Amino acid sequence: MNHKIKSLIFKSLDILPNKMGYGVYHQIQKFLNRNSIHHKIKTNDRSFKEALNILAEANIDLTDKTIFELGSGWAPIIPYYFLYFQNASKVVTYDINEHYDVKAIAKLNAYFKDEFQIEVATAQKKYQLPKNVAYFPNVNLAATNSLATNAVDLVFSRFVLEHIPPKELLEIHKNLAKNLQKPFHVLHMISPSDHRAYDDKSLSYYDFLKYSADEWKQQHTKFDYHNRLRLPDYIRIFQESGFEVVSLSYDTCEKDSEKYRKFKELTLHKDFEHYTEEEVLAGSINVLLKIR
Ligand SMILES: C[S@@+](CC[C@H](N)C(=O)[O-])C[C@H]1O[C@@H](n2cnc3c(N)ncnc32)[C@H](O)[C@@H]1O
Repeated sequence: MNHKIKSLIFKSLDILPNKMGYGVYHQIQKFLNRNSIHHKIKTNDRSFKEALNILAEANIDLTDKTIFELGSGWAPIIPYYFLYFQNASKVVTYDINEHYDVKAIAKLNAYFKDEFQIEVATAQKKYQLPKNVAYFPNVNLAATNSLATNAVDLVFSRFVLEHIPPKELLEIHKNLAKNLQKPFHVLHMISPSDHRAYDDKSLSYYDFLKYSADEWKQQHTKFDYHNRLRLPDYIRIFQESGFEVVSLSYDTCEKDSEKYRKFKELTLHKDFEHYTEEEVLAGSINVLLKIR
């Protein structure tokens, strides 16, 4: 969907009372995601392979391990990959929203049966989930010390951190450090680009960096929030919460690429002038952390 139409829908929903706005937002999201579940499985598959390479390089084996997912999204695609392809024993998955959708999960289960001959033994009432996926929606991890389990081996997130305000990110990491049994690892896959550029090819992936904080606030809503943090900001938050960086990888842009040309056409807002070009450009950030 064109980002201008999307933005108009989000801005219209933002005017409604909170409960009503979220109600309509969830229905639209469910409909869209239910119909794009096969596409989502393919993109998650790519991320999963990347994640496995990072974990293998750090000699991390997930057999019989417990994974804590931050940001469950619409269906337990990554949890199934961890359980069925890496023999993890359990995935607990938390989200500030309740996006899981009965129909999307039914489609995911059917896909696993047809494609991989894996019969997902559904054991739960509300959603057709196996017993070793524990779903905790509507939880703000920045504001809770009470977790379903504190024995976790890996915290994982994919395309979630960029949607969390900086102060909450710090609180979440402090809470994880305080409440989970050490040692454990954390693997975050972060997409720090301007998401509007995915739909609108005329926009630079860095377009939103031309706005001041106030201007950016006018451009988006709570439904499409993006914190615009750059690589060093994330690293600072992780280190301030007690984590150590084990490995870090990110994309950059080739100087002769269209992406770089569009970036150079932008005038960055002064808030972003103190970063090096490499720090600003760093995209698709994968960071493995540990805490002892
Ligand atoms: C872009 S989706 C990604 C979902 C999933 N990880 C995936 O890769 O498909 C971002 C998800 O993060 C969730 N989220 C946003 N802020 C969060 C927070 N503070 N705590 C937990 N989840 C959050 C959203 O509700 C949404 O489900």
